[in-house]
Amino acid sequence: MAAGLVLLTVGSLLCALRGASAAGAKIATSPEVTAGSNVIISCNISEAPTPIKGNYWMKGETKLDSNVTALDFTSYMIPKVDYETSGEYHCVFDTTPLTKGTVFVKVTPHVVPYKKTEHGNEGDAIILTCKCNSYPAITQWTWYKVVDQVPQPVANGTEERFYIQSNGTRTDLRIISLNLEKDPGKYVCNGTNELGEGSADVTLRVRSRLAALWPFLGIVAEVLVLVTIIFIYEKRRKPNEVPEDDDGGSAPLKGNTANNMDKNVRQRNAN
Ligand SMILES: *[C@@H]1O[C@H](CO)[C@@H](O)[C@H](O)[C@H]1NC(C)=O
Ligand SMILES: *[C@@H]1O[C@H](CO)[C@@H](O)[C@H](O)[C@H]1NC(C)=O
Ligand SMILES: *[C@@H]1O[C@H](CO)[C@@H](O)[C@H](O)[C@H]1NC(C)=O
Ligand SMILES: *[C@@H]1O[C@H](CO)[C@@H](O)[C@H](O)[C@H]1NC(C)=O
Ligand SMILES: *[C@@H]1O[C@H](CO)[C@@H](O)[C@H](O)[C@H]1NC(C)=O
Repeated sequence: MAAGLVLLTVGSLLCALRGASAAGAKIATSPEVTAGSNVIISCNISEAPTPIKGNYWMKGETKLDSNVTALDFTSYMIPKVDYETSGEYHCVFDTTPLTKGTVFVKVTPHVVPYKKTEHGNEGDAIILTCKCNSYPAITQWTWYKVVDQVPQPVANGTEERFYIQSNGTRTDLRIISLNLEKDPGKYVCNGTNELGEGSADVTLRVRSRLAALWPFLGIVAEVLVLVTIIFIYEKRRKPNEVPEDDDGGSAPLKGNTANNMDKNVRQRNAN
């Protein structure tokens, strides 16, 4: 109880610090970046609320290696602007409370398929997935099916078989009850953000129900062949090879045993 209360208090304190981070201070940041190599981003603080003890850079939750050359000015060098280095860069000045500025590094969407090729069985459902691993997030996802090399849009709910679910970093095209003739082929996911668009291909292959059954049919065929062989062997077995210890009294398959006994007796009589 007491521990919980302390945690809660610390939590609210942290939130309060964060919320108040830029109060009073003025931070001038370099403009947003969308391209280039060895790009230097920077922040410059004025009217710091308390003396500055240091500064550093964060990208998301990761602290970046930077070196402090001045207390009220900090810079960071981005070797190459691409999907991996895109994101929100925060310069943090160690004051009380902390003072932060943000520089945005933005690129056109870098869209990748979760799997380049998906395999499904006729009649089953499947999900084709694309992801965007760059900043900023996708604001609009669209799916296309390539028919005769022409991309045809696939709308959410088409044929009551195609359903799209998306967020800023991912889109799922769910196809239910796969059709062997119509559904296989190339699909394109297209993501748009404020800078432009990016797309990726996913190839869908559909196996017929029969194909899915082949392994099972194979086993059935194998069993049939075995049974046939045993049956023929039993039929051809010479009567004097019949085991003599078959009294039939304790056998669970009474009817069969009785029949066999009858047969044996008859065969012996014939001999
Ligand atoms: C910091 O910003 C102030 C104005 O806000 C400007 O006068 C000063 O030159 C800047 N310093 C650096 C190092 O950019
Ligand atoms: C640190 O700053 C010095 C002087 O500005 C510079 O020569 C050096 O390359 C910097 N190191 C890093 C890791 O940025
Ligand atoms: C597609 O439709 C389903 C329900 O029919 C809905 O839950 C989903 O959010 C829709 N997706 C988009 C991208 O509109
Ligand atoms: C998008 O959805 C995926 C899975 O449904 C989830 O892992 C991810 O956190 C979501 N991203 C956002 C920005 O909501
Ligand atoms: C992707 O979608 C955008 C609109 O959201 C459209 O302008 C663009 O032509 C599409 N690109 C492709 C390759 O389909």
